[in-house]
Amino acid sequence: MAVRALFKFLLPLLLLFPGGRCDVKFHFTNQCPYTVWRAASTDMVDAEPDLPPDVQTTYSMDDRWTGSIWVRTQCSNNASFYFSCQTGDCGTGKKICAGPQPSNPVTLLNFDINNPVVSYEVSLIHGQNMRVRIQPNGGTLVDGSGPCPVVDCAIDLKDVCPPSLVAANREGRYAGCYSACDVLREPKYCCSNSSCQPDEYSKKNKELCPMAHTYPGDSNPPKYKCKGADSYDVTFCPV
Ligand SMILES: *[C@@H]1O[C@H](CO)[C@@H](O)[C@H](O)[C@H]1NC(C)=O
Ligand SMILES: *[C@@H]1O[C@H](CO)[C@@H](O)[C@H](O)[C@H]1NC(C)=O
Repeated sequence: MAVRALFKFLLPLLLLFPGGRCDVKFHFTNQCPYTVWRAASTDMVDAEPDLPPDVQTTYSMDDRWTGSIWVRTQCSNNASFYFSCQTGDCGTGKKICAGPQPSNPVTLLNFDINNPVVSYEVSLIHGQNMRVRIQPNGGTLVDGSGPCPVVDCAIDLKDVCPPSLVAANREGRYAGCYSACDVLREPKYCCSNSSCQPDEYSKKNKELCPMAHTYPGDSNPPKYKCKGADSYDVTFCPV
């Protein structure tokens, strides 16, 4: 009897949340005039990496997911079908990439999903290979301080990237900007000492991208914690 009562109670719940899950919708839009290939660590199961120009695709993220999303650019297969990219490469030779950290420089979109709370940030800690925007649709900050803000780095660092940090592609053209920590490897850039201040490189990046994390000790803005958003728009090359 108790079992039947329990079943009666559970059935509507199962119908509402098939699989017992309640996913978080992400709309990915590529506004770049070229194809980008998404990658993630941790894996986004069954996500198709290719995102051609002017295409939007919706992906249901697991209701618990912690990881980074990035895009790879200028990818191709060589004659032995080894897939590689000029930025954001995974080093595995495969188009679907989940797991390994990408080659630098790479713009990271970091998420910590514990539905209904989604924490999100744009990180330049490993440099920039892509302009990006994260836009929650609705929702309020968990700390009650207001609506969930747009977080982006919509400006190319090209004009402020010093020659020592420029990443060039195979044709020798600008492909992105490395972070000072990844190239210079000094504690003052990497925050390997306990306290850490903005440095001459991260300050310039902060002027262009005030909402992004620009060096490892950067806590302004914090990683926003949002709840109640309908979905999250993730845009590459936002216009
Ligand atoms: C394709 O690239 C891989 C990895 O760099 C390399 O090992 C392989 O020899 C390449 N194949 C050809 C035909 O160039
Ligand atoms: C930490 O900073 C101090 C002073 O700036 C320096 O002497 C020391 O070598 C640093 N420690 C590490 C591990 O880099």
